[in-house]
Amino acid sequence: MRFFIDTANLKEIKEANDLGILDGVTTNPSLMAKEGITGAQNILNHYLAICEIVDGPVSAEVIATDFDGMIREGEQLAALHKNIVVKIPMILEGIKAIKYFSAKNIRTNCTLVFSAGQALLAAKAGATYISPFLGRLDDVSTDGISLIAQIRLIYDNYAFDTAILAASVRHPMHIINCAEIGADVMTGPLSAIKALAKHPLTDLGLQQFLADYAKGNK
Ligand code: E4P
Repeated sequence: MRFFIDTANLKEIKEANDLGILDGVTTNPSLMAKEGITGAQNILNHYLAICEIVDGPVSAEVIATDFDGMIREGEQLAALHKNIVVKIPMILEGIKAIKYFSAKNIRTNCTLVFSAGQALLAAKAGATYISPFLGRLDDVSTDGISLIAQIRLIYDNYAFDTAILAASVRHPMHIINCAEIGADVMTGPLSAIKALAKHPLTDLGLQQFLADYAKGNK
């Protein structure tokens, strides 16, 4: 299972990368705005800064919602750095753009996926990744994990090689449930990744080992 971090915060990206378990990064326009990154050139520079930290796929989202605009922006993003994956919204114009990029061997991440039908369509268009938003489904009383399981079944039935990138992950149980189902990738905040390491018995056990060592080595 590949681990991506879902942020545009360079400090957090570096901290996750330093753990040695980071495979990639996802961003979106809201995450860029949260870091105060505005203006086309600053946004492109920020993607480059992320690519310099992480040697893996970095999703960069197009803003256009029409086919021609998505192609224009997507080609510019893809030319920026070999790590860039063009993130395209799950709309019909987006499906056409994914098909176009797929024929050109430009990697895509189809974002804002909330149903199995959308995931099927994106895979048929040749998306490299699809991003079902678990947390946002949970927010509206719909089981996001069940959607991941449904998409896994469909993709396995037809051997689609589109990777399921479980997104909008909010906590460590989301990550564990995604791993049980066989999501190919998960993207989440640094807090959820770090929380996987925590267990009170580990802390207690370590405390005891160190205390016993200290007793015997005065
Ligand atoms: C996916 O790529 C999105 O950036 C992200 O996971 C959205 O998460 P949120 O629902 O926490 O905003």
